[in-house]
Amino acid sequence: TKYKVGYIVGSLATHSINRTLSQALIRLAPPDLEFDEIPIKDLPLYSYDYDSDFPVEGRKLKSSIISVDAILFVTPEYNRSIPGALKNAIDWASRPWGDNSFTHKPSAVIGASPGAIGTAIAQQSLRSVLSYCNSPQMNAPEAYIRFRPEVFTEDGQVTNSDTEEFLRRFMEEFRDHIVRVLSVLPPRET
Ligand code: FNR
Repeated sequence: TKYKVGYIVGSLATHSINRTLSQALIRLAPPDLEFDEIPIKDLPLYSYDYDSDFPVEGRKLKSSIISVDAILFVTPEYNRSIPGALKNAIDWASRPWGDNSFTHKPSAVIGASPGAIGTAIAQQSLRSVLSYCNSPQMNAPEAYIRFRPEVFTEDGQVTNSDTEEFLRRFMEEFRDHIVRVLSVLPPRET
């Protein structure tokens, strides 16, 4: 069986280190995972005024989430929390009320920063949001990546074998998490 993973990069920056990390994760993932990026950069800022008539960007976001088996969040830390663009995307996907696209959708969280704590605080913040959104998230392993440009090439090669092995394990555990969640929580119809 193949599992479809939608990945969301929390950064809008052209040379995002988190997008680079996402390429490494895709490369190291077990072969039964398939990846598609779920873009967030064209979403307007959410307001519930849109609930009666979602714009195409909002509808596309929700249908992309519905159509995958799991979501992988690869996000930077901005001011000790998640970037506004990522929170905005989650708010869009969680609405209108009663139509939360994250319900029962397995997820995992990872992120990179040049700083020593490697997005740990942003990830804690994201975990709270995903709990509220009823997305069964992988609790462990955690992965706080201190980004060094010499370790990650733009096309997703990892030059440090310990880091490579750690990330490969992370993705294997994510696959196991997806299989476990799907075995008890069948995907929603809509
Ligand atoms: C940062 N950065 C940062 N780093 C960190 O470890 N903790 C933090 O709280 C912050 N805060 C922060 C706020 C804002 C507004 C910016 C622009 C940056 C630095 C950040 O980790 C660095 O810019 C990374 O390159 C961001 O990841 P992307 O966007 O390149 O994927």
